[in-house]
Amino acid sequence: MSEVAIRIEGLGKCYRLRHQGAVRYNTLRDDLVNWMKAPFQFLSGREKKGACEQEDFWALRDISCEIKHGEVVGIIGRNGAGKSTLLKILSRLVDPTEGGADLFGRVGALLEVGTGFHPELTGRENIYLSGAILGMTRHEIQRKFDEIVTFAEIEKFLDTPAKYYSSGMYMRLGFAVAAHLEPEILVVDEVLAVGDVQFQKKCLGKMKDVSVSGRTVLFVSHNMSAIRSLCSRAILLKDGRVAADGDVEKVTEAYMALHTDSKAFAGNLAAHPGASGSKKVVFEWARVGHGDGVENGQFCIGDDLHIEFKIKAGAKVVESFLKLGIMMRSQDGIKLCSLVDSDSGFVMDDFCAECELSVKLEDMRLYPGTYYITLWVGDITSINTYHWVEECLSFEVIDGGKLTSRKLSRAGGLLFWTPEWKKNNIKQGHE
Ligand SMILES: Nc1ncnc2c1ncn2[C@@H]1O[C@H](COP(=O)(O)OP(=O)(O)OP(=O)(O)O)[C@@H](O)[C@H]1O
Ligand SMILES: [Mg+2]
Repeated sequence: MSEVAIRIEGLGKCYRLRHQGAVRYNTLRDDLVNWMKAPFQFLSGREKKGACEQEDFWALRDISCEIKHGEVVGIIGRNGAGKSTLLKILSRLVDPTEGGADLFGRVGALLEVGTGFHPELTGRENIYLSGAILGMTRHEIQRKFDEIVTFAEIEKFLDTPAKYYSSGMYMRLGFAVAAHLEPEILVVDEVLAVGDVQFQKKCLGKMKDVSVSGRTVLFVSHNMSAIRSLCSRAILLKDGRVAADGDVEKVTEAYMALHTDSKAFAGNLAAHPGASGSKKVVFEWARVGHGDGVENGQFCIGDDLHIEFKIKAGAKVVESFLKLGIMMRSQDGIKLCSLVDSDSGFVMDDFCAECELSVKLEDMRLYPGTYYITLWVGDITSINTYHWVEECLSFEVIDGGKLTSRKLSRAGGLLFWTPEWKKNNIKQGHE
């Protein structure tokens, strides 16, 4: 067997978009979100007919790489970066427009919910069908059947057509089939997006087993800690191209840093690519510093952290009561905290048009590493989001400072606490 499991050469996928004016292709998720936001507008938009324009849109371009047998590779990137398109091409569900991919081995794939199973066939029939597609004999599938059903926890619904399955059930069965039918190459898209925490853990455990047994795994996820714990290599896609490929630590850091350029967006947070919300009130700028004008983005344990920002009315009429929130994430994607103004006894009750705010986080105790800040402003009920600017600020915690000179490794944890220690010597009987 050759060393290479997957060889991708000059791969590109172009979609021809037909649209009226500026309407672009939406994913199902976009459609649903739009519908929830404005059900009637969504319907009328769908029905509208008029002059159709065509536009070529490259979802993937110039992708070339080799993945060796036994490599466990994370495919990461922001929404719309091309991850699922790449996996669909590798699973032969979608044809590339240019270039190609060779796969040397039997592929088991769990793609987005809704692909893979035949909706009219029952769970049982789908398991046999998937096995047959993978080139397994009936006997081989039978051997694995019980394991699949137990893993998926769908015993009761085995003889129900898949179209009646909830998305969680669909995903459970999809994953169980893909992982248990002994594929040489396992391709998994966003398995952690659906399903409860327990099942997610089970899936990660199973993927670990598959990878330890020397099989090749390609895993798409937005969960950087899962990617780090499972993969040794990661490929970062940005706008359909490879933006980074290599060591998982470095590439996941590059992913986290993608939209976090506080300097570039300091003057215009409304144009930040991670921004959403109705923009009734917007963050105009934001910065993180030491409160004394020093803003090199570096802190030591024990320093005070000052987050400062300006909010501005984006609409003519705004209510004077607002709610503000600050979220923080570590470089491995772990959510650290959600700071809400009212939790500190602060109430924004007299907003008129513009306001500068500062938030002081005293005696910061985070371990060395990079941290990312998301800002949120909404109405007082927290139901309506006016502006959400994802990971628009970052800061770095470095070694040293007034509290410790010890070199602190990331593996040591996240929090540097200095609790009070007490001792009580017990006298022994040998005086
Ligand atoms: N059938 C299609 N027709 C037109 N455009 C498409 C089609 N499928 C995907 N696209 C577009 O291709 C781009 C890449 O989509 P893809 O689903 O691969 O992204 P992704 O990285 O998996 O994103 P997410 O993290 O949201 O799952 C997107 O801009 C999407 O709108
Ligand atoms: Mg996707």
